[in-house]
Amino acid sequence: MPENTEKKKVIFSGIQPTGVFTLGNYIGAIRNWGPLQDEYDCIYSIVDMHALTVKRDPVKFRQQTLEAYALILACGIDPVKSIAFIQSHNPSHAQLNWILACATQFGELSRMTQFKDKSKKHPDDVNAGLFTYPVLMAADILTYNADLVPIGADQKQHLELARNIAVRFNQRFGDTFVIPEPYIPSFGASVKSLQDPTKKMSKSDENPNACIYILDDKDTIIRKFKRAVTDSDAEVRYADGKDGINNLMTIYSCVTGKDMHEIESDFSCKGYGDFKLAVGEAVADHLEPVRTRFAELMNDKAYLKECYTDGAQRAFKLSNKIVTKVYRKVGFVDYR
Ligand code: TYM
Repeated sequence: MPENTEKKKVIFSGIQPTGVFTLGNYIGAIRNWGPLQDEYDCIYSIVDMHALTVKRDPVKFRQQTLEAYALILACGIDPVKSIAFIQSHNPSHAQLNWILACATQFGELSRMTQFKDKSKKHPDDVNAGLFTYPVLMAADILTYNADLVPIGADQKQHLELARNIAVRFNQRFGDTFVIPEPYIPSFGASVKSLQDPTKKMSKSDENPNACIYILDDKDTIIRKFKRAVTDSDAEVRYADGKDGINNLMTIYSCVTGKDMHEIESDFSCKGYGDFKLAVGEAVADHLEPVRTRFAELMNDKAYLKECYTDGAQRAFKLSNKIVTKVYRKVGFVDYR
């Protein structure tokens, strides 16, 4: 049989090492990363440089980065099939960041909703990195000429900016970058807080009951779901105005594979208490293998190091080609 020489499409995505991932990170992004590994050339990164936009304790930060790396492997990223690496290990991201910053307008960055939110949250440290964060994100994607970027809904605006930067650069310097497409799940793209279902579930929520962390134990997960805010109606039904129940149904559907009709009929004669318990149990059972694998990986630091070192070398090999091309295009003097 003739070999299939058709080039696979390239996927890039990243996640910040700012603590144990939430169920939102998992459902909106990471759980979708693994199944893409056969069909695409996947590159996944722990984006530690992005995390530096908020003040961090260096010792804790180093540990969190290692844990985040182990967590993506525990969630099914195969470091041989895919390239899995830590962003600061590959200098291409920072190199391209500067060039792209010079092709990005102040006005564009000022419109980013995440910048507005984060600068309100940390008024004592509205640093330049926080402002130019989306440029680094564009560099992450464009330095591999990624075709597709699997993300949750909250990153859509950043991806649109990356596309605009790429188009602008190509118009100015000739075809250089692939224009990346977002890959946002039709379901679960925005998992909501368990305490305020109008807000997204976020690691930084001050209320510990608002957020499920994917390493929470079974009792904790069940307890948090039992306390989830719902409504005064008592029917398990997906409908407008039932944000809390809609969120729980979405989560339940994502971990069990059942659709909304099935869920409605399974719980037609039951109350919210039974449903919340079922969601808690299903989520805890679904995440159990992740917890087990994570513990194994954290006990084998030498293996983790081997994986992220190899990942960074493979990532650099690809990205450096693009950076070299970009350097030439913008008119830097070649010295090699
Ligand atoms: P981060 O680290 O905040 O989140 C990682 C991924 O999780 C998704 N996500 C959610 N999805 C559904 N519901 C939620 N409640 C929820 N919370 C988070 C995010 O959309 C994201 O896909 N800027 C990015 C990291 C990044 C990146 C990149 C992503 C840096 N460079 C290049 C893609 C490509 C971020 O802060 O994600």
